[in-house]
Amino acid sequence: MSRRATISGTGSALPARRVTNDELAQTVDTSDEWIVERTGIRARYIAGEGETTGTLAAEAARKALDAAGIAATDVGLIIVATATPDQTFPATATRVQASLGIDDCIAFDVAAVCSGFLYALSVADSMIRAGGIDIAVVIGSETFSRILDWEDRATCVLFGDGAGAVVLKAEEGERGILSTALHADGRHNQLLYVDGGPSTTGTVGKVRMRGSEVFRHAVVNLAAVLGEALDKAGLTPADVDWVVPHQANRRILDATARKLGLSPDRMIVTVDQHANTSAASVPLALDVAVRDGRIQRGDLIVFEAMGGGFTWGAAVARY
Ligand code: COA
Repeated sequence: MSRRATISGTGSALPARRVTNDELAQTVDTSDEWIVERTGIRARYIAGEGETTGTLAAEAARKALDAAGIAATDVGLIIVATATPDQTFPATATRVQASLGIDDCIAFDVAAVCSGFLYALSVADSMIRAGGIDIAVVIGSETFSRILDWEDRATCVLFGDGAGAVVLKAEEGERGILSTALHADGRHNQLLYVDGGPSTTGTVGKVRMRGSEVFRHAVVNLAAVLGEALDKAGLTPADVDWVVPHQANRRILDATARKLGLSPDRMIVTVDQHANTSAASVPLALDVAVRDGRIQRGDLIVFEAMGGGFTWGAAVARY
């Protein structure tokens, strides 16, 4: 028997305000038809006053702990994956920790943009398997609406805000995270980035993207890393019950599924309702599918994501 990190609870949180494509088209030169056809997105949630990456993360974490039946005080590790922290420092994870009423645990943020949750999950998995941590909360949380250029129709229609969380628990057995695979290639920095930061411009900056080039890299990298993670676990696409992919664009999901020979109805799709919530998108989609009963205990799930950097990754888990 091996010591593994099992997913014992999931949770998510969305801002109160839902914004449809039609509503967006009142202020941006776009249309519902264009957005649906090119991306599959129909609506997104936008954070309002008092809603931050930290507050959404804490709400998602609280729900995940409730679902797991685990007390916050038993948590030994909190990782928040985010590209939109509440402040440059301290880490948003420490705000979540305080909000959960935990006096002492390890808490830090991971910055790998849309792949952030996969990176954070992999770090937590390693720390659990190494033996030092028994319970971890891994959260993806973002308020991308605050770093969007609302005059750039090619980017502002694509993103939304939200958070998703999983509680990982050290257990002996067949369930849990079976493999992870992570990559980065900094040569592509300029295809998807934020044009500011504390050490360069001294400002927060806005999202910039060369969409069609990102699209091409995404399909190739995602199919490859999914195959790699399955290989590491000694499994094939035929063993997969559910793919929980990063929700960037419906066309990327369909093309990746085709490349791997996976049926599109094995894909959990929430991009239509949430748009791209960056690091939050995988755990948010996971929580939706767990709560609506599609994902059942014992199912084989694969996660995948790719984002700015580029960074990309995948993980295989027996739920
Ligand atoms: N509404 C209407 N028209 C728009 C638009 C919008 N919101 N955004 C762009 N357009 C226009 C462009 O101006 C362009 O017009 P032109 O031909 O007159 O210059 C036209 O639509 C085509 O633009 P293009 O960027 O080539 O479209 P596309 O088919 O590549 O689709 C994306 C654009 C962004 C949807 C697509 O490239 C994509 O999804 N890329 C991946 C993005 C992604 O997933 N990023 C995150 C990864 S983590």
